[in-house]
Amino acid sequence: MKRTLLLIAAIACAFGATAQDIKLNAPVKTGGEPLMKVFNGRHSERTFVKKTMPLQMMSDLLWASNGFNRDNKRTVATAQDKQELDIYVMTDEGVYLYEAKAHHLKQIAKGNFKEALGQANISNNAALSIIIVAHLDKAASREYAYLSAGYISGHIYLFAESFGLGTVARGSFNKAELHKALKLTDKQEITLVQPVGFLK
Ligand SMILES: Cc1cc2nc3c(=O)[nH]c(=O)nc-3n(C[C@H](O)[C@H](O)[C@H](O)COP(=O)(O)O)c2cc1C
Repeated sequence: MKRTLLLIAAIACAFGATAQDIKLNAPVKTGGEPLMKVFNGRHSERTFVKKTMPLQMMSDLLWASNGFNRDNKRTVATAQDKQELDIYVMTDEGVYLYEAKAHHLKQIAKGNFKEALGQANISNNAALSIIIVAHLDKAASREYAYLSAGYISGHIYLFAESFGLGTVARGSFNKAELHKALKLTDKQEITLVQPVGFLK
């Protein structure tokens, strides 16, 4: 039994995954409402019904927000193609880094860190919050990193509208506490937080 467990652990390590990571299926790249209808409906929502997001929907949302759609290129533009932005996902269970190339969620920390998100009335009932993090040492400039973060935020808004979810961009959060929860380095900076949730 012990040998079997060790073997499973060794295989998981070989593939860079642990039991707490979340395996995402390939994104479904079809569906949703027509784009012009989505533009017409796009808006901020701050009231959510507490519900877990199905994994396939999470997969599609993350891919749309910062995934790869061509060899080494993303669904979102970045200045000089620096691709300096990562997205993290916070749920009630923990914090995860979206590893875009592998299309995989790597667990960074287990537990509930939602307090660091601030505005509990918004975040607590969201299915998840996306945290957009800039690698300042990769970015063409800090200003460009923040501009590019806006593109990710825009994709989240459009995805939400297209698939009947709600979302709001949030610039107010506890920067120091969230930085700690995400185990970021001093070269990384949180630009924006964006809860996504289900509507009544
Ligand atoms: C960069 C940015 C930061 C924002 N920060 C917050 C925030 O901290 N809290 C909040 O409730 N809404 C926040 N918002 C949402 C705006 O208040 C909202 O977009 C605005 O009121 C217009 O409403 P609409 O998105 O429905 O058009 C932010 C929006 C942006 C673009």
